[in-house]
Order: sequence, then structure tokens, then C-alpha cells
Amino acid sequence: MKRRSLVAGNWKMNKTTVEAAMLSQDICNHYYNDYDNVETVLCPSFMALKTVGTVLDYDKSDIMLGAQDVYWQDNGAFTGAISATMLKSVGCKYCIVGHSERRQYFGETDESVNLKVRALLTQDITPIICVGENLAKRDEGEKAAIDFVTAQISAAFGEVGSDEAGRIVIAYEPIWAIGTGHTATPETAQEMCFRIRERIAEIYGLETAEKVRILYGGSMKPENAAMFAPQPDIDGGLIGGAALEAKPFLDIVKAFV
Ligand code: PGA
Repeated sequence: MKRRSLVAGNWKMNKTTVEAAMLSQDICNHYYNDYDNVETVLCPSFMALKTVGTVLDYDKSDIMLGAQDVYWQDNGAFTGAISATMLKSVGCKYCIVGHSERRQYFGETDESVNLKVRALLTQDITPIICVGENLAKRDEGEKAAIDFVTAQISAAFGEVGSDEAGRIVIAYEPIWAIGTGHTATPETAQEMCFRIRERIAEIYGLETAEKVRILYGGSMKPENAAMFAPQPDIDGGLIGGAALEAKPFLDIVKAFV
């Protein structure tokens, strides 16, 4: 089945609002709308969402707005938190959930990832669920890594109905590859993405699993994107460092056209 590719830029804690406006404008200025078979998403900080959303202006551009996190409650006394309703109100169509940095530094767990996924779906925002093993797990061997990641998948999809599951996006990001310059080989990444799809098929059936887009993330750059793009179970990329400037980011988008 042909899935539409997706390339998302995760800007992490980078760019002031003014810098975010400039970067998104630069990306739009150099974006061709013949990139039809790839969907592009920009995920700035919460601070810059509204500004970047204004630059993107969906009437003129195909580029979508995404957030980097969400809280699962809809409103109330949760100081510092941002709800899915708030994200929707500024035009977010996507939201990253369970990034390894959230798991490592902010206490994100498989349970909170699942709550966030369900909250996003109620607001029609597509979750981009991040999963991935650390180096110690990878060193235990491929089976240990696959068992770990597929367990993260099962937890994240808990109580998600089959009508919703097909629109979810997964990002396989081995932690040892994030920001390190060491990518997984295309074969290793493909094998894990295949296993992820297999697990989704076990839960929801093949038809749904074939709809789910699975991205690779971890030091993806213009120089290596073309190796990942032809892999049958890799449908795009989640890009950190290389998403902070327009040219390398757009060169990666082009690799998935
Ligand atoms: P990286 O980050 O491309 O800088 O490795 C990817 C990510 O963390 O999403």
C-alpha cells in the first residue's frame, strides 16, 4: 500500500519567536507545492506555535503545524500545562508524544504517552508517537530491542479504537542515534519499522497497520535521507538538528518526494 510520506521538523527548545517566524518563512519561500506525495510538519516550541501558524497560512501552504508535547487533561488547575484543545485553537494538526527527551528529563511514561494520545485524538490532532531503545538495550541484541520497542507500541495504543489507529504516526528513534551523528543503518531501521507495523497488525489487523505511517528519526541528514526513503516500512523522518535551517530540512523533504 502506498502511504503518503511525512517529514516533521522537531525544533526542540530552539528558536525565539522571531527566529521561528524567520525559519518558517524561509521554509515556505523555498517550498514547492509539487511535493504532493509528502506531508511536511513544523514543530516549534509552544511559544512560537501561533506565530509559525500565521506564517504557514493553510490557504497558501501545504505545510502543517505540530506541537512537541501536550497534557492529557482538557483544562483546570494544571500549572504550566497545555491542552489538546489549546493546540487545536492555534491550528495544530500534529503533536509529538513520548519523545525520548520527554521520557528521560520530564518523567514521561508509557501510561502518560497513552493518555496524551487519546486526548489528542479527541481533538482530531494526529499524534506522532516516539519509541526507541537505548544503547544498553540495543547491546543486548536485536530481539531485546524489538521486544522493548513493540511493548512501547502496545502501551501507547491502549484503548485506542481501530477507527482511530490508522491515522496515528509512529517515529522510531533509537536513543543512541539522536543528536549523536550515528544513524541506524537503513536495514536496522527498516527491520524495527517492520516489527512495529507487525505489532500494530496483531492488535488491529493488517489493513489498519498498512495505513500507519512510520518515520525514522536520529541524526537524519540530507546526506543519508536517500538511504532511508526506499525502505518499504519507513514512511518519512522526524528531524531534529537538520530541521533548524531551511535548506537541509527541505533537502530531506525532497528525498521523500
Ligand atoms: P536529531 O533529532 O535529528 O537531532 O538526531 C531527532 C529527534 O530527536 O527527533
